[in-house]
Amino acid sequence: MIGRLDHVAVVVPDLDAASRVYRERLGASVSEPVPLPAHGVTAAFVQLPNTKIELLQPLGEDSPVASFLERHSGGGMHHLCYEVEDIEAAARHLTGRGARILGDGKPKTGAHGKPVLFLQPKDFCGTLIELEQS
Ligand code: CO
Repeated sequence: MIGRLDHVAVVVPDLDAASRVYRERLGASVSEPVPLPAHGVTAAFVQLPNTKIELLQPLGEDSPVASFLERHSGGGMHHLCYEVEDIEAAARHLTGRGARILGDGKPKTGAHGKPVLFLQPKDFCGTLIELEQS
């Protein structure tokens, strides 16, 4: 069911410092920071030949990644995003096999303007998974 790895998201306390690590130390191409208030993050996108890394810093009071930084003050890997062709079909496939979708279970518009869902990490080897319709 899942297709390509679309991105790996890393939550960081300092987006400028993290962008420098990827740009200068790892020699990667990193976008300018992009505020995404609807998602409660400021993001910078690292473009790699086969996938992307999203560097996410909390934005605003109710950021969904703020509690992650409270538990991991230096930052860390937050989620993996896999592409699916049909997100509604993917949701039916997963819930039919006992997996749980976070929130109200309905797809939302993600950071790339496409429908996304997040899956309960306890059902997936301790990893938060985002599905994005490609
Ligand atoms: Co993501």
